[in-house]
Amino acid sequence: MDYSALIQNRKSVRAFADRPIPTSVQIELEAYYQNACPRLVPEIQTELCVFGDDTKQALEGAAGYNQFLVGAPHYLVLLSGKHPLAEINAGYIMEDLVLKLLDLDLGSCWLTFTDSEQVKKALGIASDLDVAAIVAFGYSLKAKKRLRINILSMSNVDISAKRHYFDPKRSVSDMVYLDTWGNSEKLDEYIGFFDDMLWEAFYAASLAPSYLNRQAYGFVIHEGSIILVSRPDSYNTEIDGALSLGIVLQHFTSVASAWAGKLSWHFGSEAAALPLPEGYAVVASCVL
Ligand SMILES: Cc1cc2nc3c(=O)[nH]c(=O)nc-3n(C[C@H](O)[C@H](O)[C@H](O)COP(=O)(O)O)c2cc1C
Repeated sequence: MDYSALIQNRKSVRAFADRPIPTSVQIELEAYYQNACPRLVPEIQTELCVFGDDTKQALEGAAGYNQFLVGAPHYLVLLSGKHPLAEINAGYIMEDLVLKLLDLDLGSCWLTFTDSEQVKKALGIASDLDVAAIVAFGYSLKAKKRLRINILSMSNVDISAKRHYFDPKRSVSDMVYLDTWGNSEKLDEYIGFFDDMLWEAFYAASLAPSYLNRQAYGFVIHEGSIILVSRPDSYNTEIDGALSLGIVLQHFTSVASAWAGKLSWHFGSEAAALPLPEGYAVVASCVL
């Protein structure tokens, strides 16, 4: 897959044609998940479920902003074993599938949820694994106006037709720093050393979908390490915040590894240490 091109073309789709995908496409998607889709933390057990007709009705009230559930002919639900990194891993895997869907000419939209058991009950999922990520998907409707979210307040998210094509994103210079959080001095020089490649990977990260478009993260380049930092954000829920971190890692990694080879992320006490403002935290680090 040409990750860089797919990432630049991806956007959340909230209006779908009322027709199911062919069985051959579903088979290709499932084969991709089984055989090719990269995992961030391979030892975490995951399972992919694909749902079709009638799922919207069943999911109503269990998923979506403000109980606004994006109606689609299909839904992907990723189940995961319990693990401190379960959500980050799920965000990483599901975003790779979102890009695979786009590669198959399908549009998609992430869906929030709070209660794994409620979703499992609604969809009749009999598994010991937890619901870790949900995405609506299908053939995008070619509408002139796009449905775009408007965050009025945490409990008032309006989803309405707007002329805006994309939800605005923070620029690379607003989310990548050198040595200390907030320092952009000599950043261009550093990134320039890697030609356009490193910039392209950070650009891909800046385009990552995130819960309520919050982008509550950034990167610090420090002593040869790329360090993902989470920003404090009262809008984020724990699950959605962690999923969004997995998604941004997927965007960066899939583009960077095209030229830097396989990247290994370190988490927790194994991640590089960094002094940060209060409330900010190191999530993961890797050496290019
Ligand atoms: C974890 C997560 C949960 C989300 N939940 C919803 C949702 O329930 N409903 C919705 O319409 N969009 C949802 N989104 C999509 C975001 O609102 C969207 O990614 C963001 O506004 C940026 O827009 P873009 O994806 O078009 O770049 C979710 C995104 C993430 C990452």
